[in-house]
Amino acid sequence: MKNAALFSTFAALALTDAKVFFQNAGKIDGWNGKSHTKGTIQETNTIFFSNRPSLNFTQIYDPGYDSLYHAQLRVDHGYALNEERYYGFAFRLDKNWNFEPPVDYVLARFMGTFPSCDTTMPSTVLWLRGSKLWTQVVGGTSCDKEVVLYDLNQCAITKEKWHRVIIGASWKADKTGFLKIWFDGQEVLTKTNIKTTVSDQGSRKFEFTLGANMWGWYWQRDQYNPPRGATYTVYFDTITIADKKDEADPENCKHI
Ligand SMILES: *[C@@H]1O[C@H](CO)[C@@H](O)[C@H](O)[C@H]1NC(C)=O
Repeated sequence: MKNAALFSTFAALALTDAKVFFQNAGKIDGWNGKSHTKGTIQETNTIFFSNRPSLNFTQIYDPGYDSLYHAQLRVDHGYALNEERYYGFAFRLDKNWNFEPPVDYVLARFMGTFPSCDTTMPSTVLWLRGSKLWTQVVGGTSCDKEVVLYDLNQCAITKEKWHRVIIGASWKADKTGFLKIWFDGQEVLTKTNIKTTVSDQGSRKFEFTLGANMWGWYWQRDQYNPPRGATYTVYFDTITIADKKDEADPENCKHI
């Protein structure tokens, strides 16, 4: 154990002057909070990315329930205006996850509170639609949003496999921002000279949340029949927010 501790000290020192703002090794402790309407959040020791445990978010469709399915953990300071940040994590869908029907399941998102127009406003979101990943950016203002969607078609999501994600963003309300996404080590989205947040953000922080938010089971319930009785589990591990990409890469954070 002593050697392991020394090793991680040296590994940390070997990195550049990068700042790590948040790091979590698959535990419920250490987050700013939890929001939870349905489902369970627990630590699982049998499935993990590098070290036990990982976070297990599980949802089951309940025909008697007619509202949102949220189970998520939160970092209050996801971003402030004009920051550049990298958000890395590993996730894994359980074998029971269904890709059909292709409704939307939110894995990660940034949320702001704008009392006059939108008290729970998502900006960038990473979600699954069936077996495809999608993302979006939101510019404009909280009352008059400019939403741009991007599909991440080349990302092949496989169940029972850890996938590594890094979201890199320069959070700007004018066209000087960027959004970049790396999936399993490949850069799969590069959008530069874009607006990545709303111009009325001011000094507000957007939260960063991760979890199982079964958006489509509620919002798309008229389009698709939700899957009765099926259990949907997604695991997350090795979550980091840093000001440099390499420091947020789950592959480089296996020591945590
Ligand atoms: C994940 O959580 C669900 C719900 O509590 C549980 O049924 C399942 O066994 C957990 N997975 C593992 C691998 O422990």
